[in-house]
Amino acid sequence: MLQFVLLVVLLRTCLAHSWIDVLYATSPEGDLRSEGYIRNYQGHIDALETFHILNPTTTSSLCSSNQQTPTYSSAYPMLSARPGDNITALYEENGHVTLDALAPDYRPHPGYYAWLWTGEPNTDLTTVEQMLDVDNVIAGPFTFDDGKCAVAEGNPFGVGRSKQPCVATFWLPEDLITGVYSLVWAWHFPKIPACEEGAPLEFYTSCLDIYVDNS
Ligand SMILES: *[C@@H]1O[C@H](CO)[C@@H](O)[C@H](O)[C@H]1NC(C)=O
Repeated sequence: MLQFVLLVVLLRTCLAHSWIDVLYATSPEGDLRSEGYIRNYQGHIDALETFHILNPTTTSSLCSSNQQTPTYSSAYPMLSARPGDNITALYEENGHVTLDALAPDYRPHPGYYAWLWTGEPNTDLTTVEQMLDVDNVIAGPFTFDDGKCAVAEGNPFGVGRSKQPCVATFWLPEDLITGVYSLVWAWHFPKIPACEEGAPLEFYTSCLDIYVDNS
């Protein structure tokens, strides 16, 4: 048993966490309009892109310190869209769907995510309290496991899946005025099922903006 527990600890510490790597805006007719990134994206680098919120207070920051302002590079620009567009985002499951051996049943418990915003241009959600307010949800909650994604082939819980990122998708409302809208992808991943007693509040977030053109 001790050996098993040690193995589980080793497995856990090898895993990276998850964040949004890329977003696409597609017209209702299915034409790709643009590709965009989260704030300050530097590439697929766990240490730079992960933001972990563990046992927060209501005033804890919702976005990592390098994602609190709409900062983008020419290599990794802000997403552009039109009202009513289809927004699709990709993230790696990094083993949380296919490898994790978590208590109480030593299986993955990848949790849920939702997309949040204020619904108004040029305003940000900044605190965990705002994240927990269902009025700020634009889409979700969705299961983190999209039913297809896997970080690799031949893993214990993703048998038959090929290596591919997880896909998140939602529609922008039709009635948006022109402006920059801030969004947050908030993944609730408490490691043990949320219904278990003592499950902590544990989130990971990616903060990003969408320039919506309604001209
Ligand atoms: C957005 O488009 C993609 C690609 O066509 C599709 O898979 C997805 O279901 C669409 N999103 C929604 C919310 O319908």
